[in-house]
Amino acid sequence: MKNLSFSLALFLIISCGKDNSSIQTNDHFSKCNDILGSNCNGFEAEPITTWFEGIWEHLGPHDPNRLIEYPDTYYEKMINANWKIVAENYIDVYHLSHLHSNTLQIYDHANAKYGFVGDHYMFWEPPTNEYKVNLDKLIPYKRIKEMTDDYIGAYVPWLFPSLGLTESESTWNIFHVIPLAPDKTKVVVRTKMEEMTEWEYTKQSMKSYSSWSGIRGIEKTKYGNKPNPDSDDPMDWNDFMEEDVYVCEQQQKSLRNPLFGITATAKEGESTVRYFQTIVERWMDRNRNDNDIS
Ligand SMILES: [Fe+2]
Repeated sequence: MKNLSFSLALFLIISCGKDNSSIQTNDHFSKCNDILGSNCNGFEAEPITTWFEGIWEHLGPHDPNRLIEYPDTYYEKMINANWKIVAENYIDVYHLSHLHSNTLQIYDHANAKYGFVGDHYMFWEPPTNEYKVNLDKLIPYKRIKEMTDDYIGAYVPWLFPSLGLTESESTWNIFHVIPLAPDKTKVVVRTKMEEMTEWEYTKQSMKSYSSWSGIRGIEKTKYGNKPNPDSDDPMDWNDFMEEDVYVCEQQQKSLRNPLFGITATAKEGESTVRYFQTIVERWMDRNRNDNDIS
């Protein structure tokens, strides 16, 4: 029962601030833990700081407390797939160069650094040289103050069980996975950025858009087509989020195929997915034993 209670407590802590108007940070976690401690006598939930021990040095230098969450950056998506497929997609290095070959090409996936700290996944990858030398022109929004040249890159950890962070040069995002059914998951993405005026926002967005076409030519999809938001094929949309949604839903559908089976997986590139599955299995085994009433 103890471990089940802790799992529940963790989910509660992570979702505790969902109705508040701003994204919650470290102080909030401590506060939630105090609240849960006083309300959950006997559950023996460990402090949230213990749960996240060792991860801080792998996160970006961003200070979310001072960044601004603009209301129109809120994003919500229903995905017809199990939450673990969504999580596996998030931590999978292998697909970045293939699925997102024309949508996340600003980062150097071959030189990504990643691994697990406890049950949490840590990830960092540098910008490509093209993006780095043209950063002032290409960056989509105002550069975050803490993201100096020493820290440049994308920090994309997964905090087990259900929270991803995407910390970049111009945005700080939480990617909250909410399981709704065995084959349905809701994803909520909330974004914080530097404080900026509407003019600063518009000016940098336009500068970035026009600079990309100047440097890389006319935008094309991964198949070399002109992007078409009206197409039936999500691969024509040039939207990395929609690319991920598409493959997650295909993966879910394939589970019903009698011919489905897991064959060879990439030794290094898919090692993170295999390890994530052992973590989930470990938690499920613990809770099965705790709930055994026979
Ligand atoms: Fe992806």
